[in-house]
Amino acid sequence: MDLTGEVAVVTGGRRGIGKAIAEMLHKAGARVAIADLDATQAHEVGKACGGFGARVDVTREDQIAAFLTDVEGRLGPVDIYVSNAGIAMADGPTFTATGAPNDAWQLSWQVNVMSSVYGARHVVPGMISRGGGSFMIVASAAGLLNQLGAAPYSCTKHAAVSFAESLSIAHAHEGLQVLCICPQGVQTDLIRGAEASLRAAGDIIDPDDVAQAVMNAMEDGRMFVFSHPETTAHFQARAADPDAWVKRMGLARQMLIAQTGRPI
Ligand SMILES: NC(=O)c1ccc[n+]([C@@H]2O[C@H](COP(=O)([O-])OP(=O)(O)OC[C@H]3O[C@@H](n4cnc5c(N)ncnc54)[C@H](O)[C@@H]3O)[C@@H](O)[C@H]2O)c1
Repeated sequence: MDLTGEVAVVTGGRRGIGKAIAEMLHKAGARVAIADLDATQAHEVGKACGGFGARVDVTREDQIAAFLTDVEGRLGPVDIYVSNAGIAMADGPTFTATGAPNDAWQLSWQVNVMSSVYGARHVVPGMISRGGGSFMIVASAAGLLNQLGAAPYSCTKHAAVSFAESLSIAHAHEGLQVLCICPQGVQTDLIRGAEASLRAAGDIIDPDDVAQAVMNAMEDGRMFVFSHPETTAHFQARAADPDAWVKRMGLARQMLIAQTGRPI
């Protein structure tokens, strides 16, 4: 795919999946700006990808808007926006359905959902006025299925998938390509401590594999990116018999608790 001359923004791109997507977009010719909490690392990755980086807290709409103004001034109008920044907070018993505290719910909502709403609000109208663009949301297979021991993560990733659908329903006919990326386990800092439950559902893959799946979907014009082959089967099993699926997830949780000795 040739993205020569295109300008991309990747949130949460200083490491992990965002960094891999930024590098892949740059390899295809795009100049990439990185928005992340760590200014130095964001700038390092952005500079290596033909752009720059800055400290942006994606829970703050004013910071996203100011960053986009900066990107437009330095690199030009944004053609591709990757809303990738996310938090999991799947860290033990406090993040179960009844145990997660209010601040965990609130922060998950802000980072995993509202950051995409803010990004879309500030880039999509411009993309449409120029004839189109790509808006990508790195959601999760947890947004189609569930992630054991991570109720705020699962709920907010379901909302992220729904927001991607709303965006596509409203704007695809105006030239907006929406991608909704739904990985299972990917080897990054985010999954530390949750490897056992992720492995129970499928392989843990490399961030570059997710980035390659994104490039393939961009090229094919597909919206949903399932980087793991197992996801389709899990999703179909859930749709075929939702009651049985939830019961099986409950049994899987009991088994994991028995195996690991960790309450999730
Ligand atoms: N690793 C996995 O197994 C997996 C699976 C499915 C989906 N995802 C999703 O992929 C995305 C990237 O995660 P990752 O695995 O690369 O993890 P990661 O922790 O390596 O990367 C997340 C990035 O988001 C940034 N970030 C967090 N809060 C932010 C904020 N308020 N403002 C700006 N930046 C912020 C972090 O600094 C970090 O650089 C996330 O949305 C995550 O939910 C990951």
